[in-house]
Amino acid sequence: MTPNEHEASAAASGAAATDRFRQSGKTGHAVADQARVNELASALIQAANDIVLEKKVTYDEYNALKSWLIQVGEDGEWPLFLDVWLEHSVEEVATSHREGNKGSIEGPYYVPDAPQPQDNRTIPMREDESGTPLLFKGQITSTDGTPLPNAKIELWHADAEGFYSQFAPDLPEWNLRGTFHADDQGNFEIDTVQPAPYQIPTDGACGKLIAAAGWHAWRPAHLHLKFSAEGHELLTAQLYFPGDEHNDDDIATAVKPELMLDIQPAESGTGVQTTYDVRLDPVSTQTPDTVPGE
Ligand code: DHB
Ligand code: FE
Repeated sequence: MTPNEHEASAAASGAAATDRFRQSGKTGHAVADQARVNELASALIQAANDIVLEKKVTYDEYNALKSWLIQVGEDGEWPLFLDVWLEHSVEEVATSHREGNKGSIEGPYYVPDAPQPQDNRTIPMREDESGTPLLFKGQITSTDGTPLPNAKIELWHADAEGFYSQFAPDLPEWNLRGTFHADDQGNFEIDTVQPAPYQIPTDGACGKLIAAAGWHAWRPAHLHLKFSAEGHELLTAQLYFPGDEHNDDDIATAVKPELMLDIQPAESGTGVQTTYDVRLDPVSTQTPDTVPGE
């Protein structure tokens, strides 16, 4: 497929996602522990060799892999590839101890420090933003039910055509990205529009793999969220809309039953609304770093 100039090409979204990752501050934390690097790198290489031997991979296939990997790098698609096919397992490991709400992958399109709208309610959007108006509200509490006043909510999502601002052309910089704060009872109300399902770019290396394997490139429509409050673990989540045809076969394997929204007609008479309450885990005081005297 030749991308329309207004669509997100793999190379353009890949390059933007790569830049974003490099600026994120996450790249400086390389694993310095030699024993751990040895353990992980050896296991990965062994797993790849086991596949070659078990599946009797040919030279043609080996060379196809080599040229594909080169293209993933050239297109800057590593952030997309990793977040679609691997991050969900990393997220599972990172949050398995939690008792509060389930989270999901961050994905490649988070940008920190999105604007805080003056009314603390309406996400930045175009005057004629298309899509069904969506009122998203809820209460943020600790796992024991204590409300978390002033908890922070970061919301970002695709528009009604499935495009993310800063990763697709022709969109205002902060379109459908905002930072909000809960009131003194932990309650929040945010006005936005319903996003469309998202298709990962089909014209790059990831798209090539998807086509060659006969898969589809879709993620179900989703809201991306980060909830944070003092003394609590940051919750990175995605929330989904019942009835989406890709809820059961998300290419990024990031849907969980607990993340499904209950969508109702809006009481205002315009659009839809949903209430989603969030329980955040207190930061553990029992981790080895913080146990007094250790
Ligand atoms: C990708 C895009 C997303 O919007 C998302 O939530 C997860 C992954 C991707 O293109 O890799
Ligand atoms: Fe997304």
